[in-house]
Amino acid sequence: MTATLIDGKAFAAKVRGKVAGHVTRLKEMGITPGLAVVLVGADAASEVYVRNKGKMTVEVGMASFEHRLAEDTQEDELMGLIDRLNADPEVHGILVQLPLPPHLNSDLVINAIDPAKDVDGFHILNVGLLGTGQRSMVPCTPLGCLMMLRDHHGSLSGLNAVVIGRSNIVGKPMAQLLLGDSCTVTIAHSRTKDLADVVRRADIVVAAVGRPGFVPGDWIKPGATVIDVGINRIEAEGGKTRLVGDVDFAAASEVAGAITPVPGGVGPMTIACLLANTVTACCRANGLPEPEGLTA
Ligand code: GUN
Repeated sequence: MTATLIDGKAFAAKVRGKVAGHVTRLKEMGITPGLAVVLVGADAASEVYVRNKGKMTVEVGMASFEHRLAEDTQEDELMGLIDRLNADPEVHGILVQLPLPPHLNSDLVINAIDPAKDVDGFHILNVGLLGTGQRSMVPCTPLGCLMMLRDHHGSLSGLNAVVIGRSNIVGKPMAQLLLGDSCTVTIAHSRTKDLADVVRRADIVVAAVGRPGFVPGDWIKPGATVIDVGINRIEAEGGKTRLVGDVDFAAASEVAGAITPVPGGVGPMTIACLLANTVTACCRANGLPEPEGLTA
């Protein structure tokens, strides 16, 4: 391995430490930042995320409000809960865990959240603000990737960045953030022609396709920085499973200048950025200055 390992686990602990410092200062002013998480149904992976989110929210000193609703919850009941959370002064951030059961319209639900409390940054107003370079709530995973890239490179200005994947949660906001930091950005996806050549020109590769080992090592430009957003569970020896990213880590780490591992790369940064966004939302709600180093 020749690449520098970008340790997301350690970086996330640092971000949570900063968040905890802001929470302490806010509490001294009589303000406790609060995060509400809504989980509809009992998807096993979502259960794990929600439990971890709750644990870390409490660890940094914030108030955690969990709302678990039955799988067959109807739209009006969920909308009623969101209205109540929007109006609750103790709640500064609202996250509705996705995916929702198929009978619920996630666009409608997400767009019912007060944009100022939309700590996922999925509300159309926040998407528009980010796209026009205005102050917004920024989706957590791309924000975490940006923080790691800025930390590693200092300035990203003028670098060629390729984002593989065009989801609303990662690919599109990631591209906007990189553009905001003056990268030359290409959004590639499953239909992109000559993807290998596109990736070979990139100083920064962000892989968010959700396919194990989709990016082979020989696509990586020597010295490039590789951010692997993929979290794929695959069969391993002895009937066990293990987590791998979207990039062939062993091969890519012989060529890249720096690379994030899976697990221990982007994953821990997502929850850290959710907590960061909640502090940001709380500061804004109280007319206080933006918390330094926690926003885009
Ligand atoms: N499900 C998987 N990741 C996420 C996320 O970042 N936010 C929400 N709301 N749901 C998710």
